[in-house]
Amino acid sequence: MNNQTIGVGIIGSGSVVQGIHLPTLARCGEEFAVRHIMDVDLDAARSVAGRVGARASGSVDELLSEPDVDVVAVCSPHAFHSDHVIAACRAGVSVVLCEKPFATTVAQAREMAQEAERSGTRIVVGAMHAFDPAWAFSRDRAGDVLDRATVIRSSIVLPFNDRYESWSTEVAQASPVPERDVSTPEARAAQITARILGLGIHDIPLVRSVLPDWRELEVASATILAPLGYAVTLRSGRRVVQLIGSFRDHGEPEWEFEAVASDASVHIAFAPSYVQAGSGTATVRRGATAEIFAGSARNGYEEEWRHVADLVREPRMPTRSLADLVDDLAFAIDVAERAGEHLRHAGATEGSSR
Ligand SMILES: NC(=O)c1ccc[n+]([C@@H]2O[C@H](COP(=O)([O-])OP(=O)(O)OC[C@H]3O[C@@H](n4cnc5c(N)ncnc54)[C@H](O)[C@@H]3O)[C@@H](O)[C@H]2O)c1
Repeated sequence: MNNQTIGVGIIGSGSVVQGIHLPTLARCGEEFAVRHIMDVDLDAARSVAGRVGARASGSVDELLSEPDVDVVAVCSPHAFHSDHVIAACRAGVSVVLCEKPFATTVAQAREMAQEAERSGTRIVVGAMHAFDPAWAFSRDRAGDVLDRATVIRSSIVLPFNDRYESWSTEVAQASPVPERDVSTPEARAAQITARILGLGIHDIPLVRSVLPDWRELEVASATILAPLGYAVTLRSGRRVVQLIGSFRDHGEPEWEFEAVASDASVHIAFAPSYVQAGSGTATVRRGATAEIFAGSARNGYEEEWRHVADLVREPRMPTRSLADLVDDLAFAIDVAERAGEHLRHAGATEGSSR
């Protein structure tokens, strides 16, 4: 494919499509045209497709049989990612952008990877910060600082998504904020697992790239932060990893990634997802000197879509390997399940001491 406009089919038409992907695709100009939007809620599909002059349907098969769809974006709820990615591979789609999390089990992720291997489909997972220019700058400038870091921290403290969704677009069929039950150890364990796979997973590729030996990590502590948050501390030898996610109704959003060694550090501040405010900013410090990346107009979502375009136009273009996509998910699920187990155990201990 040369310089022709790339046709996009989108499965799911919810908040991430309306508030993030459609504005991002619009910023990419002539590069992409949205041709078909599918949703099980046909009214939502029609309403959202109408905004961008795309066709609408309630059928994945119909979307996948469109001759002018080159790329499929899987933006359905987590539970359907594996079915939708596999269907797109079997239909011979050249590139699939799958929203995070890649899947909900490692077995599913492996099956998706095998199917992609068979069909030659390139897969990009929408963990946007892995594409953010602030992360690219940090990796480029940090040298061995990331490898030597003894403290690694991913901290996501945000207002509830619906605030940004309503600022960024008028969302058709907005999903309600889920009820949170944290009354039993089992419910707390389910809560922390769901939150890590829903929110913490955004920066898992960054955290994992600094931790090749992640299987050796132990959960030192796991806590539910009300409402809907988590704080998990992991340890491996001299390394400490802290994962924090929290929603609150006041204050400034803070979305940070940090890797700190004794004499150097990397710090990145990202903008909240629905705010089209450009990339993150980064500071790489060594002793008294600091290199600063002040940010660029393109954020991780735009870079992610431009990478998709590169993969369509240049099939040999390198991308994150299928094995890495599976391992990112395996790491996230492992941490989420072990954090859940920690909470269950803490609950059992509380119970037995009464
Ligand atoms: N990368 C990011 O910043 C980011 C942000 C938000 C959401 N997400 C991810 O995007 C995905 C969708 O999230 P959302 O916030 O848009 O959810 P949402 O609940 O707002 O929308 C989901 C849409 O999918 C539709 N749907 C349900 N089952 C379907 C099926 N079987 N086939 C097709 N469509 C179906 C629903 O009708 C709804 O319109 C999730 O996996 C989420 O983790 C990523």
